[in-house]
Amino acid sequence: MRLCEALKEYETLSLYRGHMPGHKGNPEYSFPETLVKYDITETDDMDNLHDAKGVIMESQQYASSLYGSDECFFLINGSTAGILSAVSAATVQGDEILIARNCHKSVYNAVVLNRLKCRYVYPKIISGVNICTGIDVCDLEKELNYNKGIRAVVITSPTYEGLSSDIAAITETVHKHDAILIVDAAHGAHFGFHNGFPASAVMSRPDIVIHSVHKTLPAPTQTALLHVNGSRVDRGKLKRFLSTYQSSSPSYLLMAGIDNCMTVMDEHGDRLFSEYLTNIEWFENRTSKLKNMTHMCRMLYKTEYSITDPDPCKIVISTVNSGISGKELYDILREEHKIQPEMAAADYCLIIMTIMDRKEDFERLINALECIDEKLEKLKKQSAEKTEKALKDGRYCCSLKNSKLMEAYEVLDDIGRLKPCQLTEAVGKISGSYVLFYPPGIPVIVPGEVISEETAAEVLFMMNKGLNVQGIGSSGEVMIYE
Ligand SMILES: Cc1ncc(COP(=O)(O)O)c(C=O)c1O
Repeated sequence: MRLCEALKEYETLSLYRGHMPGHKGNPEYSFPETLVKYDITETDDMDNLHDAKGVIMESQQYASSLYGSDECFFLINGSTAGILSAVSAATVQGDEILIARNCHKSVYNAVVLNRLKCRYVYPKIISGVNICTGIDVCDLEKELNYNKGIRAVVITSPTYEGLSSDIAAITETVHKHDAILIVDAAHGAHFGFHNGFPASAVMSRPDIVIHSVHKTLPAPTQTALLHVNGSRVDRGKLKRFLSTYQSSSPSYLLMAGIDNCMTVMDEHGDRLFSEYLTNIEWFENRTSKLKNMTHMCRMLYKTEYSITDPDPCKIVISTVNSGISGKELYDILREEHKIQPEMAAADYCLIIMTIMDRKEDFERLINALECIDEKLEKLKKQSAEKTEKALKDGRYCCSLKNSKLMEAYEVLDDIGRLKPCQLTEAVGKISGSYVLFYPPGIPVIVPGEVISEETAAEVLFMMNKGLNVQGIGSSGEVMIYE
């Protein structure tokens, strides 16, 4: 029996709940009845996430069989918990790790927690629109040849914007160098259920793949999966770290949310993904007629950038040459069209559509984009000069390349030498903190890196654009190491 069924059955037993949680299943004064009924704890019938032998084990096995992994673990603290556990299990203190420079901040935190020596492999960036693409296997191989002792490799695939790396080739290369491959596929939990979508990373058998089911599938926030393949990663050590980084009282609502999502994928996935593809084709046909903004759609990626397999669920609208920034498009969508996008960048705005969106949701978005496009067209005709200036002001170039002098943990441990400094005066100094745009949560400055003029300018540019920058104090100061 799996978790969802077990919870329903438990409810019919009408047992007195002489146990946590404190709401006792009573909806009065707590949250809605349907939720409160299933929010229980590790009773005899309900198994224990940290030592799964019963209904949770069966649910994890079901998820593992759907994705085709050797073993699967439920995560109730997001992909974050999976990344911290995976890196901790794959390495020992002082090891060298190779990570894609566009990794999420949780990977950087894992590197610091385990006091690892960090090397980088850089993604290619689509210039102009500043979107990170996948990791080139040749670049990765060069790094592995250059740094002979790499113990583990972490890459993000797909990226926040939905672009994947060649996981099969990367897995082969990493294994050839006797290292462990961890794929942060937080944004790819919906891959592999339909042949109109990219294949799941799990199928190429990297050692660990991590999925945030909550990001692109119908499942509650914080729910994620960690898949393991093969025997390079010690399962006992991995389980120990999963127990370290996850609550000792895992939420049954979250776990049941994952279990339910797996049933939906199994029983309705094919139909839901087919319907999605029909809608997105119709949507792409309409967006291809926009005159001022560009939908970075599947055809465009293929013809202009030779990128195959972009995620059709990530609607990236480039505002390059439109006269407005990605943030301005984000604000217009929110304020004038009541559409809340996922994220704004300087040059694009990202909207996530999923199999839970209906045709009318696609219609609502395209109608809004067409309306904005029409206004931009009129504006362009009225003031060509102003638009020209906006285009020039709106340029910057993202590289993520700073020179690194120290390991992040060395800097962060030495608290006495950290002090605040105005970002404008910090150029040439060693950073004492992370600076990142959130979302997507990729650090543009890492502790131990020298703050370059270009990076400082990029951060100031983003702040002026009204983007959410973390790691800069209220008076524009950053921490430096002296
Ligand atoms: C690439 C990537 N990895 C990992 C994470 C962390 O995922 P979670 O929010 O499920 O902890 C995120 C979150 O946005 C992400 O974008």
